[in-house]
This record gives sequence, C-alpha cells and structure tokens, in this order.
Amino acid sequence: MDPGVRTSTAVDSGDVFDSLLTQLKALDSVENLRHAVGPEKRQELMLQCQKVFASLEAPFELTQRVTYSPFLLIATRTAQGYGILSRLARARSSGVPCRISELATHTQIEEGVLISLLDYLCSQFICEEVAPEEYVGTATADMLNAPAMEVPFQNFQDIILPGGWIGFYRSLAPDESRSGWQIGRNTQSTFYEWLDDPSHAVDSQKFHRFMEVQFKGIPSWLDDIDFISMYAKGAKANDVVFVDVGGGNGQESGKLRVKVPNLVGKVVVQDLPGPLNRAPEISGVEKMEYDYTGEQTIKGARIYYFRQIFHNNSDKDCIAILNNHRPAMASESVILIDEKVVPDDDKSSQMYTSALSLSMWALFRGLERKRRQWLKLLDQAGFEARDIRKYTDFGDCIITAVPKE
Ligand SMILES: C[S@@+](CC[C@H](N)C(=O)[O-])C[C@H]1O[C@@H](n2cnc3c(N)ncnc32)[C@H](O)[C@@H]1O
Repeated sequence: MDPGVRTSTAVDSGDVFDSLLTQLKALDSVENLRHAVGPEKRQELMLQCQKVFASLEAPFELTQRVTYSPFLLIATRTAQGYGILSRLARARSSGVPCRISELATHTQIEEGVLISLLDYLCSQFICEEVAPEEYVGTATADMLNAPAMEVPFQNFQDIILPGGWIGFYRSLAPDESRSGWQIGRNTQSTFYEWLDDPSHAVDSQKFHRFMEVQFKGIPSWLDDIDFISMYAKGAKANDVVFVDVGGGNGQESGKLRVKVPNLVGKVVVQDLPGPLNRAPEISGVEKMEYDYTGEQTIKGARIYYFRQIFHNNSDKDCIAILNNHRPAMASESVILIDEKVVPDDDKSSQMYTSALSLSMWALFRGLERKRRQWLKLLDQAGFEARDIRKYTDFGDCIITAVPKE
C-alpha cells in the first residue's frame, strides 16, 4: 500500500486514539506549554489540533459551535467589564476559589445568569469549577486579565460587531452600495464620520485606544533596522523626517521617538480634527490637521507613513491618496505602507488576514491585499514597490513605495 495514503483502517485501531489521548493528556499537564515548544512547532501543533478537531466534530456539535460563536467575544467582554475575570485571576493566584454568591454581590448580576456565564467560561477553558459554584481562573484567564487586554474586546463587541459585522451579509447584495457599518447603524455616515461626531466620543476613544494597543507583544516595524541610515541621514532639526498620515493617537510616532532617541528632525502626526484633538500629547511629536482626500501640505518629508489606512479604502481611493502625495515628494522621500501583504501562495497567516479582510469589507467596503494586488495598485498609481519587508508572522509588512521613474 502507498504509505502516503491514509485509509480509515490505518487509524481505526483503538491503539492510535488511545496513545494520542495519552500524549495529549501529558501535554495538558505541562506548565507553560506554549513556552515549552519552539514557535514553528507551536503553530504546527495548533493547526493540526484544529484540523483534527474539525474532523472529529459531528453535525450537531458543529452547528452549535457556529451558532454560538459570537458568545466567545460577548462572554469574554462581559467577564472583563463586570470584573469577573479579575476575580477569577485572583482566585488562581491566591488559591481561594471565588463563589457565585460573592460574584453576584460584586457584579449585581442575577445568580442564575452568572452560573450560565461561568459554565460557558469553563467550556472555553477560561476557568474551572473546582467545587459546586466555586471557580478558579486558568492561565487563559490570566492572559485575558492582563493590562490593556480589555481594549480589543470592548472595541469589537461594543462598536464593530453591532455596527459593522452585523451588516456584512446584506452589504454583499448586488444592488447594495452601503457598507455593513452603514447598514448595521442605519446611517449615511462612514465609520470615521460617525466616530468623529462629538456624541460618539466615548466610542471614538475606545477605537483609537484599540489602534494603539492592538499589536502589543508582537514585533514592531522599527525593530532590527537602522532607521537613521535608511531614512534620515543628514537630516537637520527643521527637516520633517516622519509624517504619520492618519496616525490616530500617534503611537507609531511616539514609538519612533523612543526607539530612535538620537533622531534629528520633525515627527508629525496628521489626522482628522476630532481624533487629533483627543490624541494625547507626545514629547517630540507635533500634531497637524490633514484630510488625506486633499493634497499633502507637508512638502519634502523623508517619510510619509501610512499604517492601516489603505485597507480602509478602495483601490480608487488609494490611488487618489497616492496621487495627493506625489507633488509633495522630494527625491529622498518615500511612502511607507505598513499593512498586511497577503502572500500569493503561503497560507501561514491566512487565519489572521482573512478575518481582518472581511472586517474591513464590513466597515469600509475595503479589503486586505495580496502581494500581486499591491503591486498592481501601486503600478496603476504610477508608483513602484522598492522593497516589501515582512516583520511579523501575521502578514505585517512595510512596503516602500516611490514614484516610477
Ligand atoms: C485604522 S486607523 C489607523 C490609525 C493609525 N495609523 C494606526 O495604525 O494605529 C485609521 C486612521 O485614519 C484616520 N482617517 C480616516 N479618514 C481620514 C482622512 N480622510 N484623512 C486623514 N485621516 C483619516 C482615522 O481617524 C484613523 O485615525
């Protein structure tokens, strides 16, 4: 028999399952398992477990999983917002379980609902019921309870899910031109116009805070490069070195000042008036109002940097943005686009890039782009990619774009 062909009899024998189960149980008892294995093996193991899980699932179980999938986000957000996660994490560190009755007093949530919520969190391995109605958080609860971890869940459950994702399905209809966001919120305003409205200041702050912390713990585009020799050689104090276009809270500009403390020249964050006014002051970073649908007003900067701007826009609008920058560019200027470049063949970052892409469609009728789509877009705008540098395992890249000769 061809050894590459797997038949049902090859895995039918109970031995395979028994030995696999024994091995998986052994892994389960390893402390800090994710640190006990190298990054590539870890990814491979997770993927393989997910594949096997999907093959083991029966139709009813699959239906349940798909149907209730939003509850992972909703229950996590609830456990964070009502201080349940912090109590579960404390129970883990102190070894004293937390009781439903105490949680009910603390959260003012009815006990019956709390029991279901805690059961659900147990089913997701966020906590364990160690005695009837007594719970202790797991290592996952610790991770979810880390500082700033509430930010993504607030952003997605409070803003993106009810506003954008909910309208995704209808946004695909052939006669529909609105985004999922416009359908879900029943508004003519685009996502950023809606956030810019002073009555939505709280949501705007949540969103911009999310932009600030979303890549916490993964490599930065500024790691392992000699920024000055690449982009700022000979720059004088009055030269503009870095323009952070649509920079939001200015986190990347702030990071640049910290990572390259001897950088000479100006660093400027540009954005719409609302987010700019609400953005914190950062030492060594200037703020300037600018709408990228009009011509760039800072001339001759070394870098015009765009992080997560192009995927908010259609090809036509991206071409317009690039054209709005060409007149400002001097011979040393470059455009740096910090975004996902989905590999044309490699599927390793697919899980992260595809969901993000669908989310961009729901919110803006925008999408993530594959490498060949980026090259085509730049070419259509009269630009070329001088370099595409990948800096994370999640598809994040810096595209250096310059006008074609
Ligand atoms: C996805 S966020 C990215 C923020 C920041 N670059 C980052 O990566 O964290 C998009 C940013 O573009 C800004 N923006 C949207 N439309 C704009 C426009 N027409 N002109 C300038 N900025 C705009 C938004 O206010 C927001 O800060």
